Amino acid sequence: MTTWVIRGGNSLEGITRTPPDKSISHRALMLAALGEGTSRISPLSAGADNRSTLSLLQQMGVKIEISPDESEAIVHGVGGPQGLLTPDKPLDCGNSGTTMRLMAGIVSAMSGKVIRLEGDESLNGRPMSRLLPLTKMGSGIDGVRKNEKIYPPLEIRGAHLTGTRHELSVASAQVKSALLLAGLWAEGKTQVLEPGRSRDHTERMLRSIGVSVKELEDQTIELQPIEKPWRVEVFEVAPDVSSAAFLLGAALVTNSPNLGVETAVNPTRTGILDALAAFGVDVQRAELPAMGGEPMATLRIDVGTLSPAKIDGSLTLRAIDEIPLIAGLAAFIPGVTQIRDAGELRVKESDRIATTANLLRAFGAEVHEVEDGLDVVGNPKNLVPAVIHAGHDHRIAMTAAVIALGISGESRIEGAEIADVSYPGFVNVMKSFGGDISLG
Ligand code: S3P
Repeated sequence: MTTWVIRGGNSLEGITRTPPDKSISHRALMLAALGEGTSRISPLSAGADNRSTLSLLQQMGVKIEISPDESEAIVHGVGGPQGLLTPDKPLDCGNSGTTMRLMAGIVSAMSGKVIRLEGDESLNGRPMSRLLPLTKMGSGIDGVRKNEKIYPPLEIRGAHLTGTRHELSVASAQVKSALLLAGLWAEGKTQVLEPGRSRDHTERMLRSIGVSVKELEDQTIELQPIEKPWRVEVFEVAPDVSSAAFLLGAALVTNSPNLGVETAVNPTRTGILDALAAFGVDVQRAELPAMGGEPMATLRIDVGTLSPAKIDGSLTLRAIDEIPLIAGLAAFIPGVTQIRDAGELRVKESDRIATTANLLRAFGAEVHEVEDGLDVVGNPKNLVPAVIHAGHDHRIAMTAAVIALGISGESRIEGAEIADVSYPGFVNVMKSFGGDISLG
């Protein structure tokens, strides 16, 4: 077990590019595997979640070579779902919900095959009933049934699929992507309408490889099946704005205007920047050339007079992975910050509403949980160093580190190795910026 020993209070300085985006890396690996010929993915995230997708594809017979520094992969495409092998034992998705849900869409198109998908303890506790719209297209999905819901391990019966219209009750990029990926090999068009606009990497990437993906007037996404497999030489993976969020959060709590972050700034993912602005932070963006179809910028912040904010609706959706961090930052801002419409957090890698509330309380903050969010009663004077456990959740580990960097005195974050799921190297970056972090 790794423990981070953090003495907060130092101001931070430096510039970094965040690691390749986790969501885009999953999709690049899958699309490269399902294309024809050889694709290079560069750069590629070395995070544990993306390794789960990579090794799962290898288990299905896809040949993938990884460069010695693990920053690039060469993928030999199998030309479509029918080119994937069906091993006898269940395919291991590790801790990664995105791997399981997107692959559920792909293997649904493996007509006549039965594929089993399982995860670690945390993933096996996450609901998969939301994948049932795939059965409207013709595949079969079963799993462990509890309280009328389905949990992994999943058993998916692939079929010759029919394109269908789906109106989702939850805005979820994972479910939308599963349906669109399945639709690539279905008969007829597939339509997906979500109650809110989730991240659109799948749509952008499919368009970039020549698939017809349109957005209709009512925001329905409409995809036409492909006639022949794509061939793509290079997939470029833009840097992860969810990782950038922790650096910007650290800049806020340490009042560090000279901390710069180069990252993608896809508008479906930049709720964190709007949340910072709502707190009164001046977020400065210097545009950079786009990468892999994603807009890019160097970000710096200027902490002005801070005030609490209400985070809800589409802002919550566009910052869904950053809500624990936003709650942590709110603890430093006098007044009550309300976070709402975040019920989805209850079924992430942990119940992130409960784990965030417990984390903040350990640092001395006053927090009230509601079903779909939190009220954080910010008061920096009440914050004290703490010893906490990351609880097997990478975003909780890094949120804890950010809070600890803002409090003078020594905090300890146990189980910190889980941060590698999305941001290997986080601690080294913080140290290079002048953060006082050592391994305990
Ligand atoms: C992801 C979608 C989001 C997000 C997750 C990654 C993706 O989940 O929270 O970290 O890559 O599609 P939902 O689609 O379940 O909201």
